[in-house]
Amino acid sequence: MKLFVDTGNVKEIEALAALGILDGVTTNPSLLAKESGDYRQILKQICQIVRGPVSAEVVATDTAGMLREGRDLASIDEHVVIKVPFTKDGVRACKTLASEGQRVNVTLIFSATQAWLAAKVGAAYVSPFVGRLDDVGTTGMNLVREIVDIFDNFEFPTEILVASVRNPIHVVEAARMGADVVTAPAAVIEQCFKHPLTDIGLERFLKDWEKAQAAKV
Ligand code: G3P
Repeated sequence: MKLFVDTGNVKEIEALAALGILDGVTTNPSLLAKESGDYRQILKQICQIVRGPVSAEVVATDTAGMLREGRDLASIDEHVVIKVPFTKDGVRACKTLASEGQRVNVTLIFSATQAWLAAKVGAAYVSPFVGRLDDVGTTGMNLVREIVDIFDNFEFPTEILVASVRNPIHVVEAARMGADVVTAPAAVIEQCFKHPLTDIGLERFLKDWEKAQAAKV
């Protein structure tokens, strides 16, 4: 399973890329709005760091506007993946952009039928939002299970990108279900590294070693 970070923050991306664990980045208007500076320059910088898929979202809500913005975003760097919301306008835009050879990430997926329709119009990725489904009292990961089953049945090339990830359990479940990609905030990726027994174990190894060396002198 590929790991993307869900952020527009260059420092967070640099730190994760330096660990060698990062396959791509997803941004959205809310995330880029938190960063200061020109969004085009930020996206260019992110692409240069990660050299993998970087999702950048349109803000237009009509097909013509999405096409205009999508083509403009794609012109920033070859690694840009155009993100469009799942609406009828978004579906139309996805079909056209995909036919032009652009990679499209259809976002705000909250049902299996939405994912299936996005795959039919050539989406490179579909992004089910698991955390936001959990927030309204449903089990977000059930949606991922349904999409995996459907895409397996029809061998859709569309990748399932699990988004709105809130904790390492979402990451583990996504991997167990065979999702292609998980995108997580840097804080969740940090949690994936941590285990108190690793820290305690290392401390004990080092202490035992130190004690043994001291006893030898
Ligand atoms: O990038 C889209 C998605 O991951 C948003 O997550 O936490 O705002 O629901 P969240």
